[in-house]
Amino acid sequence: MSENHGFGVDIGGSGIKGGVVDMDTGLLVGDRFKVLTPHPATPGSCAGAVREVVEHFEWKGPVGVTVPAVVTSGTVRTAANIDPGWIGTDAEALFGATLDRTVTVVNDADAAGLAEDRYGAGREVNGVVILLTLGTGIGSALIHKGVLVPNTELGHLEVDGKEAEHRAASSVKEHKGWSYEKWASQLSRVVREYEKLFWPDLFIVGGGISRQSDKWIPMLEVSTPVVPATLLNTAGIVGAAMASRAEA
Ligand code: BGC
Repeated sequence: MSENHGFGVDIGGSGIKGGVVDMDTGLLVGDRFKVLTPHPATPGSCAGAVREVVEHFEWKGPVGVTVPAVVTSGTVRTAANIDPGWIGTDAEALFGATLDRTVTVVNDADAAGLAEDRYGAGREVNGVVILLTLGTGIGSALIHKGVLVPNTELGHLEVDGKEAEHRAASSVKEHKGWSYEKWASQLSRVVREYEKLFWPDLFIVGGGISRQSDKWIPMLEVSTPVVPATLLNTAGIVGAAMASRAEA
């Protein structure tokens, strides 16, 4: 195990993915490994899947894990798009006992934001960066000069009478069969609200739909630059590894 390597696991709705991270570059060392998210995705079943991922690499050091929920002092507080059994779970204690080591648990968007800010699309920006993950819900990370304010949960901000993630997550586009244009107009309403509140220097957008960002970023009617995430499906893993090394 090199001094400059860390390990992160990203718990998502369909897969639980992990990998060894080179902390100097933010790149994965070798491939990531993925197991299917168990159903129901209770804390106990996910802990078993996380162990499988860690054992696959024979990784012995500290581990960072993301969950798609608010996490304070290692305890999961919300469950907007996950099994309600997570609420009140001390996930750091649970994963720590399962893996027999120190585990750091962070919100998924916060992890992605940390990684993008340090190694990805935000690395040249020295001001306020907001990362938004657009998927089933909207996740957010607010970072100022490399320092994260955790659990901002901007996806739940009410925008014109509707929660932002119910208005403009990419799942809404999918369910309603909207064009990019229609969806971009809804997302613009949400992003303009964030601009008014936080005045960021840059928005970074992640999630599967950011792979086709050239089809919709140009349609956004907002004042702040918006760029796609560059680490794509490794950002959560890399950010989790950063958090585990208290580099967050
Ligand atoms: C959750 C956030 C999460 C986001 C993306 C939201 O519904 O409240 O904690 O970061 O979805 O997964």
